[in-house]
Amino acid sequence: MFYSPVITNAEAVAKSDKLHLFNYVEDPKQIELKTYESRGGYKGWKKVLSSMDSNAVIDTVKQSGLRGRGGAGFPTGMKWGFVPKDSPKPRYLCCNADESEPGTCKDRVLLERDPHQVIEGMAIGSFAIKCHTMFLYIRGEFNHAIDIVEKAVEDAYARGHLGKNIYGSGYDLECIVHTGGGAYICGEETALLNSLEGERAMSRIRPPFPAVEGLYACPTIVNNVESLAAVVHIINKGPQWYKTFGTEKSAGSKLVSLSGHVKRPGNYEIELGFSLKDFIYDPEYGAGILDDKKLKGVIPGGASTPFLTPDMVDTPLDYESMAAVGSMLGSGAVIVFHEETCIIWVIYKLIHFFRHESCGKCTPCREGTGWLEKMVLKIMQGQGEPGDVEKIEDVCANILGRTICPLGDAAVMPIQSAIKHWRDEWQYAIDNGKTKYKNDFAFR
Ligand SMILES: Cc1cc2nc3c(=O)[nH]c(=O)nc-3n(C[C@H](O)[C@H](O)[C@H](O)COP(=O)(O)O)c2cc1C
Ligand code: SF4
Repeated sequence: MFYSPVITNAEAVAKSDKLHLFNYVEDPKQIELKTYESRGGYKGWKKVLSSMDSNAVIDTVKQSGLRGRGGAGFPTGMKWGFVPKDSPKPRYLCCNADESEPGTCKDRVLLERDPHQVIEGMAIGSFAIKCHTMFLYIRGEFNHAIDIVEKAVEDAYARGHLGKNIYGSGYDLECIVHTGGGAYICGEETALLNSLEGERAMSRIRPPFPAVEGLYACPTIVNNVESLAAVVHIINKGPQWYKTFGTEKSAGSKLVSLSGHVKRPGNYEIELGFSLKDFIYDPEYGAGILDDKKLKGVIPGGASTPFLTPDMVDTPLDYESMAAVGSMLGSGAVIVFHEETCIIWVIYKLIHFFRHESCGKCTPCREGTGWLEKMVLKIMQGQGEPGDVEKIEDVCANILGRTICPLGDAAVMPIQSAIKHWRDEWQYAIDNGKTKYKNDFAFR
């Protein structure tokens, strides 16, 4: 029995020679070090320490085409290569396990059910950038995952996978598990670094980028949990193997959380390029819309990404294809809405979240998200007036691209797309003094 039951496709993953991250997540014993080792665990870490130098590790990851799974899809090997080679300062690696994007809950499965896969990936990443102290920054509310991860780190030290002179190689590596500050912004990489330093989590102005000047003003790499877990398999099986699946520019597999009005919400590992339509309707994944209703819209990559309409879902889930239809793959969280969903209510819930989570450092985001929340609420409550939608659009345009971190953009992109796709629904609410669809809090 698992503490957090969730549907996964682990059985199908185990049978596949491509999918790999979810291989053992349905086996409760996988959290034990001896089980992880018996399945080849820490082999990649041993291989790196015994036969590779840091450049070879970076090149291997570059060749694999792995792109960061935290949202932006930045190439992982290239990011590691940005750490200045001649810097006399210590270097740090931070595993970003803050996972707070609404709809995204895939890292949690790895942390709770296969923690050594993450620790091994962190160790390999640390070696690549010549780091001797790595941090696992984990969301403060993930109480169960924190216990699991702390025990896994303790066991890894006891078996000599971490600590001094690992496997007699002369390489030292310490691991610190740091619980997060309890805010969505803590997952933004520069705010995360502030939080690690004991400051309030507020984003930093870039440049300098963390790879050059990050934690304690030293070169620092921040990587997502899933990105680091994938590195283990790339080292073990080689970059060419990784490139044999996914698409040309979006190599490998992706963990995708599926939620909202589907029959089988869950966390699934898919090959990048898998059809979003099949993901929603295939019996092995979403199995179709709840109560056999029609689809109204989909947020394909977490709460920060623009909506897609039913005519747009026949699109592959990969970075380029999602961008081509005006949205993003983001963190990999597909949220589905059926035909009777009140889009104004959805937007109200989203903007309420972003307003609450704004760190307040820059004016457009701090003030603008508050104005947007009030205006959307006014329309939702039947008090909208002519010109209100245009005012919302104007405020959105004055936030987009004018903030220190991407939270500002994230707050407005779903609103802009919801107005573009369902303008008639906003107009209906203004003309009739009420929303077209019920907007109570019951999702079904
Ligand atoms: C508001 C905000 C929240 C974020 N939250 C997370 C998070 O919880 N986990 C994560 O990996 N990346 C998050 N990111 C992205 C990180 O800033 C960063 O790009 C990522 O950790 C880099 O890892 P990757 O290169 O492996 O994708 C967030 C970004 C923003 C703007
Ligand atoms: S965009 Fe928002 S969250 Fe980001 S730095 Fe500015 S105020 Fe803070």
